[in-house]
Amino acid sequence: MNRYKKRVVLDPKAKAFIMEVDLLPEQALMRQNRPVALREPVSFETFFQNSNPVELELGFGTGRFITEFSRTHPQVNLFGVEITRKMVYVAANKLFQAGLRNVRLLHADGEVFLKAKVADQCLQRVHVYFPDPWVKKRHIKRRIVNRVFLDQVFRVLVPGGRFNFFTDHADYVDYFLEERKNCSVSFQEDSDIGDYVPTSYEEKWVRQGKPIFRTVLRKPE
Ligand SMILES: C[S@@+](CC[C@H](N)C(=O)[O-])C[C@H]1O[C@@H](n2cnc3c(N)ncnc32)[C@H](O)[C@@H]1O
Repeated sequence: MNRYKKRVVLDPKAKAFIMEVDLLPEQALMRQNRPVALREPVSFETFFQNSNPVELELGFGTGRFITEFSRTHPQVNLFGVEITRKMVYVAANKLFQAGLRNVRLLHADGEVFLKAKVADQCLQRVHVYFPDPWVKKRHIKRRIVNRVFLDQVFRVLVPGGRFNFFTDHADYVDYFLEERKNCSVSFQEDSDIGDYVPTSYEEKWVRQGKPIFRTVLRKPE
């Protein structure tokens, strides 16, 4: 049985890891298929109470990467956004138990957060690992990594910043390459995946013998 089918209770002490950001106006715009613009960007300095470099993970699931990476990189701030509340609770409980201080989480749609709340050139790296593949033809438009998303990632990265995108879906890679061709920015290819720690989904796909496709893009200096 998948243990996350069970109810997850947030430890009251783990609540401090979860930030509140008002995205209601943007969510309303999204529902009406209207464009979302940057509005009062969040202050990562306020969230973390320091000015260390910030990395963002969208769709962190069980929080395996964010927890392990933050443990070995105390001088880096990790900000994770996840749309499923239960997974936010799972990750927050883990971070509290591990006694980590350099991670903050948000329960929200990562795409909306990126567009509406992240200032230009403020992130060192953006991580997206094993996003939902949306395999049915009519669902492909739901894929998070598309041309608009790539433009946004470019905007928020510092010069020299990187974007990690890993998937087990060859079809998503083809889609990604096409979207990259059609986005309005020019990333460079890169091979530096950083100190990556396999996520829960990567472990699952590796156990099943599936190939893993790793893409790293770099914003030119
Ligand atoms: C297939 S799971 C991968 C989880 C994790 N990255 C891993 O590799 O183990 C995809 C995750 O992305 C989350 N997700 C899907 N759409 C999202 C969005 N728009 N914003 C934030 N999280 C999202 C899902 O709730 C789910 O936890």
